[in-house]
Amino acid sequence: MPHPPLLAPSLLAGDHARLGDSAQAVAASGAPWLHCDIMDGHFVPNLTFGPETLAALRRSGSRLFFDTHLMLAEPFRYLEPFAQAGANLISIHIEPAYDHAATLARIRGLGCQCGIVLNPGTPASAVAHLVDQVDLVLVMTVQPGFGGQPFRRDMLPKLREIDGWRRARQLGFRLEVDGGIDLATGRECREAGADTFVAGTSFYRAPDKAAFAAAMARL
Ligand code: DX5
Ligand code: ZN
Repeated sequence: MPHPPLLAPSLLAGDHARLGDSAQAVAASGAPWLHCDIMDGHFVPNLTFGPETLAALRRSGSRLFFDTHLMLAEPFRYLEPFAQAGANLISIHIEPAYDHAATLARIRGLGCQCGIVLNPGTPASAVAHLVDQVDLVLVMTVQPGFGGQPFRRDMLPKLREIDGWRRARQLGFRLEVDGGIDLATGRECREAGADTFVAGTSFYRAPDKAAFAAAMARL
């Protein structure tokens, strides 16, 4: 069964002085997921926030599904803090060298869903051996590190390839895209097989966030 389209607004593009309000704006729009971008200044050349921020959002009453995108050189060091802070799904990148399968299993063991992420320069084949072990495959449609970058249309064949495996092997993972997503680029990704749409800039800039979320949910 194909997944219905799902919007995951990215907190990175919200107001970092008022992250609680930024998360509340997502809940108020009707979007079910909150995409949390965690950067370590090593795997990507930027820093964001950590587990304490997620825990504080939970304490402030957020019941959104926390889709936690770890852009970390050593993600296995931080799984427990994020799980305890209220992450629902934790995604890890394939590019750094570590035991990816064991790390995914550990995420599951902590009671979270797990995902594997590919940078634009990483071929689909790099994750072929893991797609039967994950709840989500995230295809980056920009080089990670910063919001507001242009969508990489050359990632569409990668989406088609991974969606093709999913159909052929009857796997149930979600196929997520992240970077430069708006209604137009989201539609292109949807046609290529994506069902889960991270949107930072386009969400927080939308004058009517509920209308934007509703339109994304109809992609
Ligand atoms: C980029 C992050 C994205 C980012 C997307 O490193 O992984 O989640 O917030 O931002 P937009 O939607 O502005 O491209
Ligand atoms: Zn992200």
